[in-house]
Amino acid sequence: MNVLLTGGAGYIGSHTAVEMRAAGHDVVVVDNLSNSSEKVLDRLAEITGRPVTCYRADVADAAAMDRIFAEHKIDAVVHFAGLKAVGESVKKPLEYYKNNLDTTFTLLAAMKKAGVKKLIFSSSATVYGTPKKCPITEDMPTGHCSNPYGWTKYMIEQILMDYTRANPDFTAILLRYFNPVGAHKSGRIGEMPNGIPNNLMPYITQVAVGKLKELSVFGNDYPTPDGTGVRDYIHVVDLARGHVAALRYDKQGVGVFNLGTGVGYSVLDMVKAFSRVNGVPVPYRIAPRRPGDIAACYADPAKAAKELGWRAELTLDDMVRDSWNWQSKNPNGYEN
Ligand code: NAD
Ligand code: UFG
Repeated sequence: MNVLLTGGAGYIGSHTAVEMRAAGHDVVVVDNLSNSSEKVLDRLAEITGRPVTCYRADVADAAAMDRIFAEHKIDAVVHFAGLKAVGESVKKPLEYYKNNLDTTFTLLAAMKKAGVKKLIFSSSATVYGTPKKCPITEDMPTGHCSNPYGWTKYMIEQILMDYTRANPDFTAILLRYFNPVGAHKSGRIGEMPNGIPNNLMPYITQVAVGKLKELSVFGNDYPTPDGTGVRDYIHVVDLARGHVAALRYDKQGVGVFNLGTGVGYSVLDMVKAFSRVNGVPVPYRIAPRRPGDIAACYADPAKAAKELGWRAELTLDDMVRDSWNWQSKNPNGYEN
């Protein structure tokens, strides 16, 4: 298939481009590079052996999107483009609602004009809010998000469900990601957080490389085995392969899938695994809980296994090794 990746120069999109090509598909990227570097494209060419077509454009720009669909016969779209920083979304809610919703509206209109009927959407486990139990299944309630970013994901899911109901020959696949970490094993592409990272793994790697002094572990009094927060960390390459599997989904209507491993690890599990595998110490201190955090969040990934034939295969050791490989080879991200 020929697959358009909106936000394909970003962290998950770039890894998905690699896995799509490895599976025999081809990709076209559209990205405004608001949170990525054009150097990613050179590295994708290096990893996959040939250049990647990329349009530097805003997905909310209708004329640009129409042009892309006119210039390429696209079979399916993966919609990664969006703003994703939880804390920033609280400070700049309108930017988040505008960017994440406008890109979706413009994309759907352009797909309709071009007759493209399959969309895979980057949703998030954040739509489950505070889950009543773990592991989380796809039929559990969504909503009660704790920040505007989460609400944009919730709203886009709702828009896609309504749109699909009105257009029964359309397929929307909502992939609810858990916590992506790691990087391609080459160490040539990876996550490039802006400023001080909010997420655990980039914070750990920046402490390990000496850019940050110590990790603050946000709370050790949660009702979890060691008191620290538990999450379902998934290797970004496994996550990327989940999108390749989703291309095979051939039912019409909406398909909703958790992409996680089904295993929860605590903050201290992650710190210890990182130090053990990489032989690098990660100084940390226990700090107060971070507002908005939940105690535990991990997936039941059985539905994706059954209906998409996909399951995560890479281990915790792979995740911490590949995260460090990327960070240590690219201490300043793509700016080296
Ligand atoms: P990322 O920021 O690395 O990638 C997003 C890409 O979209 C960036 O390259 C950015 O430049 C581009 N972009 C943003 N707005 C755009 C616009 N209007 N037009 C064109 N391009 C635009 O983020 P990521 O971690 O790769 O996440 C990809 C998607 O997955 C996002 O929708 C994100 O919300 C979702 N998601 C991410 C996580 C995570 O922890 N990384 C978890 C759940 C869901
Ligand atoms: N944590 C720390 N110290 C840090 C950073 C994180 O102790 O410096 C802890 C958090 O308290 C939490 C765990 O590490 O227990 C994971 O935190 P992250 O910020 O890495 O991830 P979250 O689970 O909070 O959020 C992530 C994405 C969201 C997405 C959500 C969905 O950042 O975009 O997963 O599950 F919505």
